[in-house]
Amino acid sequence: MTAPTFTPRVFSGIKPSGGLTLGNYLGAIKRWVDMQGQMESVYCVVDLHAITVWQDPAELRDGTREIAAGMIASGIDPSKSILFNQSQVSAHAELGWIFNCVSRVGWMNRMTQFKDKAGSNAEKVSLGLYAYPSLMAADILLYHATHVPVGEDQKQHVELTRDIASKFNHDFGEAFFPLTEPVIDGPATRVMNLRDGTKKMSKSGESDMERINMLDDADTLVKKFKKAKTDPEPLPDNLDDLAGRAEARNLIDIYAALDDRTPEAVITEYAGAGWGKFKPALADLSVAKLAPISTEMKRLMNDPAEIDRTLAQGAQKAREIANPVLERTYDIVGLLRG
Ligand code: TRP
Repeated sequence: MTAPTFTPRVFSGIKPSGGLTLGNYLGAIKRWVDMQGQMESVYCVVDLHAITVWQDPAELRDGTREIAAGMIASGIDPSKSILFNQSQVSAHAELGWIFNCVSRVGWMNRMTQFKDKAGSNAEKVSLGLYAYPSLMAADILLYHATHVPVGEDQKQHVELTRDIASKFNHDFGEAFFPLTEPVIDGPATRVMNLRDGTKKMSKSGESDMERINMLDDADTLVKKFKKAKTDPEPLPDNLDDLAGRAEARNLIDIYAALDDRTPEAVITEYAGAGWGKFKPALADLSVAKLAPISTEMKRLMNDPAEIDRTLAQGAQKAREIANPVLERTYDIVGLLRG
């Protein structure tokens, strides 16, 4: 097999299940904004992934618009990047099916996210949740994406995407799909829960105090950071001494990511400080950085028809890349086309 060269292209996605959190912003969107100037970028609100668990239809529609508004307000420019929602490009579901036939059940059984999500309830979750990584591989490979910026928790799914691509290429004797690289970097790829620093900040946790929503107002931001769980110790002068202090480390990482600095620089500045000094500084910083985004998000969300138009235009551009790749895939597999 001769290995073709693939144009560098970024693909990534966020599920519209619930609103947008600081974890989505720092762990994903903020880095996507940086990448959009560097190479062709495709950013997707992955609504077909969201429905692998129950979603109220009206909330799903609103959530899709909220994520899109958050991306645009944060600097994803729909004239520079392709921005759309997954279900408008049917090729995702179609290539997902092909990949269901390439993937092995044993591969899916190894996915730690499925095990975590399904827990002891594995017999009762949807078949879609089980097959989710195969759809994610389709999202990525439909664009022949070479770079996928994701959080640490998605690394295994991107590795699986490589396994699917190489099995497909091998089975059909053609190096058609690229072996995609996960791009995992930046200080806050993993923003943790404010009440329990060992858990990821999630949109679905029970208490709103454990997460920062991108639409939180200034008073709420201040209250949440003030009440964030910490420990009685002051801040050390180096990161190594934060080992075993998950909540403290998380707040340092959040500060660094918001301020575009390294965690090392932040800990040096605040060495010896107590929480009574650090938390108000973090709260002020978060208001300064997030208030302009939430104001713009609210403005955009006041005109849902405009968001819908933007997503439809993005879907049109996405189809121009995706449909020929799907057609060629069908052809390689031997599915007869008229
Ligand atoms: N599974 C990802 C998550 O839960 C979302 C996602 C779906 C995705 N398809 C993708 C991310 C393709 C990157 C590339 O966060």
